[in-house]
Amino acid sequence: MILLDGAKVANERNLMLKDMIDKDLVKYHRAPSLSIILVGENPASQSYVKGKGKACKLVGINHQLYNLKDDVTEEELSNLIEKLNQDESVDGILLQLPIPKHLNEAKLIDLISKDKDADGFHVINQGYLYQKKPTIYPATPKGIMTLLKAYDIDVSGMDAVIIGRSNIVGFPIARLLMDAGATITVCHRQTKDLAYHTKNADILIASAGRAELVTKDMVKPGAIVVDVGVNRVDGKLVGDVHFEGVSEVASYLSPVPRGVGPMTINALMENTYELYLKHVQK
Ligand code: GUN
Repeated sequence: MILLDGAKVANERNLMLKDMIDKDLVKYHRAPSLSIILVGENPASQSYVKGKGKACKLVGINHQLYNLKDDVTEEELSNLIEKLNQDESVDGILLQLPIPKHLNEAKLIDLISKDKDADGFHVINQGYLYQKKPTIYPATPKGIMTLLKAYDIDVSGMDAVIIGRSNIVGFPIARLLMDAGATITVCHRQTKDLAYHTKNADILIASAGRAELVTKDMVKPGAIVVDVGVNRVDGKLVGDVHFEGVSEVASYLSPVPRGVGPMTINALMENTYELYLKHVQK
């Protein structure tokens, strides 16, 4: 089994990005800038946001963190987003999800200017993705595609099975894998027989958010397995894949941590850089 070492690939790409940003600093007289909005004190979100801030520092992106109380009103949050939309010094805006239930998530995401949408979640950017037009892609699917490419994995003609249908991962990765020539099956909570599908997969993307859901007996020998899960069990991080068992049958496997997570953050850095270039070259 070959480890899909996301930490290594992401680190290499972050260093290349740092070089490009250093050069652009001279050319455009300012660094890229990302505003991160975190609502409440969800420990997982706090940890993700910390990782994003650390990566910004590494690559030379300025970032501002707006940590709002979990009883913030929709009007207050909308006002902040509008202010950042208008702010010429801001290239990218990210609203860390999930947000508390009293806030309208879809409405707030679409309030972020599509030209500052670092996550690629805006309805117009999603529309471009589904029409195969160039746009900002959601960071996790983009990171997964970059990771596969780094290992020269060509999915064309493969049977791909995706577990999970979220707007953040499952749905967009299905689109990107299909565009790359794979045949797609998307499994979810109502799927009758999950193993029936997964056993058929040449490439399996596990993004259900359930600790060690995918076991050895569910994986075809030689399959490529990408683990998107981040689950905390007894204070330890585990993926959606039972790593030890599946590593005995898979040809490639991404670990948790140090697999898809760092690739997601790298993709976010690259998205912010793209938005910055469009902004300064306007
Ligand atoms: N929550 C879980 N994943 C993500 C992500 O990629 N972006 C944002 N904004 N929130 C998330």
